Amino acid sequence: MIILTVDGRSIQAPAGSSVLSACLFADIFIPHLCWLESDTVADAPAACRLCFVEIDGFSEPVTACTVTVENGMMVHTDTEAVRSLQKTALKLLLSVHKVDCKNCPADKACSLQDIAKFLGIGLGCKPFERVLKELDVDSRHPAFDYYPNRCVLCGLCVRICRDRHEQPMLSFAGRGFNTVVGYFAETSDTDPDCLSCRGCLDVCPTGALVEKSQV
Ligand code: SF4
Ligand code: SF4
Ligand code: FES
Repeated sequence: MIILTVDGRSIQAPAGSSVLSACLFADIFIPHLCWLESDTVADAPAACRLCFVEIDGFSEPVTACTVTVENGMMVHTDTEAVRSLQKTALKLLLSVHKVDCKNCPADKACSLQDIAKFLGIGLGCKPFERVLKELDVDSRHPAFDYYPNRCVLCGLCVRICRDRHEQPMLSFAGRGFNTVVGYFAETSDTDPDCLSCRGCLDVCPTGALVEKSQV
């Protein structure tokens, strides 16, 4: 086991763990959206840019999901620089997000709401302008509807689908601002494993994937 200090508290973590997983398992919350419990540092896509921490010896804040724990490491999760970066990252996500919680099935079970509350800010995006994608809902998948303007592009659904199925049904499509999660069935018959899996629905941190029966 590795012993490190986080916010003045000594914690232990298995060798090879990321700083993010070490902190989360020690009940020290660090905002994150694109991390899976099974992720090693090498797997982490570091896409959401939320999990910043400061570590003694590093010249600037780093993403906790991409740094491996070391003995004697001194980690700080609650500095001004860290909170400022996290607030900016969240606001950027919200600047391309249709915030309409009352009409969203994820209301009160949404990671964006939780992270905003944790950071002590609302769901506004100032000073950034809010810009939404034209397509509001994609209903092609037989089991769920996809709402691009609620998707934070964390990639968890795509990764779970890839991990569980030889022929994954989900993948990123488009580029830049127009990037979305696309549904690609090899044949017109949907794999029955897909219909019973629910992996993507379970990991989605927002209301972007909604079971058809819930609509
Ligand atoms: S995904 Fe979350 S923040 Fe967005 S509308 Fe739904 S509940 Fe609100
Ligand atoms: S649909 Fe959900 S899990 Fe998939 S990328 Fe969007 S927010 Fe993440
Ligand atoms: S969890 Fe580290 S960048 Fe998303």
